[in-house]
Amino acid sequence: MKNYIIRNMTYAEVKDIAVQWAADEGWNPGLNDAQVFYNTDTIGFFVGLLDNIPVACISAVSYESIFGFIGFYIVKKEFRGKGYGIKIWNKALEYLDSLNIGLDGVVAQQDNYVKSGFRLAYRNIRYEGIAADGFDNTTSVIPYSKHYFEKLVKYDSKLFPASRKRFLESWVELNDAQTFVSLENDALNGYATIRKCKVGYKIGPLFADDNDIANSLFISANKFAGEGSIIFLDTPEINVNAVNLAANYGMKKVFETARMYSKEEPNINIDNIYGVTTFELG
Ligand SMILES: CC(C)(COP(=O)(O)OP(=O)(O)OC[C@H]1O[C@@H](n2cnc3c(N)ncnc32)[C@H](O)[C@@H]1OP(=O)(O)O)[C@@H](O)C(=O)NCCC(=O)NCCS
Repeated sequence: MKNYIIRNMTYAEVKDIAVQWAADEGWNPGLNDAQVFYNTDTIGFFVGLLDNIPVACISAVSYESIFGFIGFYIVKKEFRGKGYGIKIWNKALEYLDSLNIGLDGVVAQQDNYVKSGFRLAYRNIRYEGIAADGFDNTTSVIPYSKHYFEKLVKYDSKLFPASRKRFLESWVELNDAQTFVSLENDALNGYATIRKCKVGYKIGPLFADDNDIANSLFISANKFAGEGSIIFLDTPEINVNAVNLAANYGMKKVFETARMYSKEEPNINIDNIYGVTTFELG
């Protein structure tokens, strides 16, 4: 009888197992995601070991014990269908306890998540395109600097179900990445981060008060990637303006997820979400 145990991951395991397996699944993680993700909740990453060999992983990140997000739900191919997945899934649920939990589920798993009590909120669409050096008619977008951190955290908290200061502290300082802020009279009305991934660059989040601001932030992010680079933007399908932005730049749909919640859908203005931060941590 084989011995299956589930325990917390170390940082090295988050990098070498969770992020690497996500890359193997074709989810194209960011080059430096592991450190930020792990720092956000150091006891929210689990690995399943079969006779000491890693066969399963999952993340269950708790944001200030107010909101949870599940990602990296993966069992190594040759070990699937043997009950290792559901055990680590249950561990994730147990850790997040009674929190409202979000996830971005792949199409093949949506029915399972419904069985586990999750409900569909909307679809997120991954768009892929080529960075353009577009004309930007505003000067309100500037590269992020520490001076704007508190404003950014406050702005972000209106567009995420919980304050995620801990996550953002590292996210805005990522290597091979750049955050841009949009300002009007020193008030922050949008921000975006672009980061280098296994393939090309992902823009996430792209949060903005209106289309013009979103467009300016998008162009600044494109410029950072460099004309001709491959870029990705994950958008809530129900935000028509976000979908139009992707379409305007010739981006094509390459992947989709179902954004689901275990309890009520958080009361957030999706119209201001042009790009989801990540599919792994929300
Ligand atoms: C999804 C995945 C992790 C499931 O792992 P697994 O080890 O193959 O699943 P198990 O053998 O533990 O499943 C046992 C049973 O629980 C069900 N189950 C698995 N996960 C479940 C969940 N989250 N909720 C409810 N039921 C679930 C299975 O459908 C199966 O049901 P059955 O016995 O009626 O057929 C695995 O298929 C995988 O790695 N897929 C590729 C990566 C991926 O797409 N992950 C999901 C991202 S959103």
